[in-house]
Amino acid sequence: MGYADELFDLTGRVVLVTGGSRGLGRQMALAAARCGADVVVASRKYDTCVATAEEIAAETGRTAMPYGVHVGRWDELDGLVDAVYDRFGKLDVLVNNAGMSPTYDRLTDVTEKLFDAVVNLNLKGPFRLSALAGERMVADGGGAIVNVSTYGSLRPHPSFIPYAASKAGLNAMTEALAFAFGPTVRVNTLMPGPFLTDISKAWDFADDNPFARHALQRAASPAEIVGAALFLMSDASSFTTGSILRADGGMP
Ligand SMILES: NC(=O)c1ccc[n+]([C@@H]2O[C@H](COP(=O)([O-])OP(=O)(O)OC[C@H]3O[C@@H](n4cnc5c(N)ncnc54)[C@H](OP(=O)(O)O)[C@@H]3O)[C@@H](O)[C@H]2O)c1
Repeated sequence: MGYADELFDLTGRVVLVTGGSRGLGRQMALAAARCGADVVVASRKYDTCVATAEEIAAETGRTAMPYGVHVGRWDELDGLVDAVYDRFGKLDVLVNNAGMSPTYDRLTDVTEKLFDAVVNLNLKGPFRLSALAGERMVADGGGAIVNVSTYGSLRPHPSFIPYAASKAGLNAMTEALAFAFGPTVRVNTLMPGPFLTDISKAWDFADDNPFARHALQRAASPAEIVGAALFLMSDASSFTTGSILRADGGMP
C-alpha cells in the first residue's frame, strides 16, 4: 500500500452517509467504499438507495447497505442507527449530508411548514443522529462525524435565508459537538461551494458565468467533493476537529 493509500485507508470501517443515494452523498459513499469501508446509503427513497448500494458493492466489493429514512423526522433516526449497529456492530464515520435548499420568490412565500422542514432536515436531524451515533462512538473508543454545510452559511443571501440560517446553526453545532465527543470522536464541517448536482438545477442566474468572481471561476463536478470528504473521514485528519473545511472554489 502506498503512503497516501495508507493515510486515507478506511478498511474495516463502517461509514454512514445520509443523502447517500444521489449527488455529493453518492460520491462520498462510493469514495469511502473505494478506500475499503463498508457503507450505509440512507435517503427517503429506498429503491434509489438500493440501486446506489448495488452499484457501490459491484464496483468496490464492499458491503453497501441501503436504508430508507426521512432525516427530518426525529423519530425515524433511532431506527437508522440501531439498524447500522445490528448489521455491522459498529459505526466509525457518520456523514450528515442530506439537506434541502428551497427556492422562493418572496419572503412571504416561505411558510412556517417550509421553514420547519428546512430546519428539521438541515439542523435537527444531524443533531439527533450525531447525538445517537456520537455517544456510541465514544463508548466504542473512536469515530468521526462530518457535517455537510454550505458556503451560503458564511455568505447568506436573501434568496436562501432559511437554508443559510439552518446551515449556520449546523456550523455552530459542529464546533460544540467536537467538545462534547472529544477527545475520542472528531466532528468537523465540510463546506461545499457550488456543485453541479440535482440541487443546482434550481439555480437561476442571469450572468453568463455566475461564478466569475470565485477564485476558480466555475462550479464543481460532484466527484470533486471526494478529496476533502475523505480527509475528514479518515485518519489523515487525526488532529482536525471542530473545524470548517471549505471546498468552495474560493468564494468571493
Ligand atoms: N450542490 C451544491 O451546490 C451544494 C452546495 C453547498 C452545500 N451543499 C450541501 O450538500 C449536501 C448534498 O447536496 P447535493 O447537492 O448532493 O443534493 P442532492 O443532489 O439534491 O441530493 C440530496 C440527497 O439527500 C437525500 N435527501 C433529501 N431529502 C432527504 C430527507 N428528508 N431525508 C433523507 N434524505 C434526504 C436525497 O435522496 P432522496 O430524495 O431519496 O431522499 C439525495 O440522496 C446538502 O446538505 C447540501 O445542502 C450542496
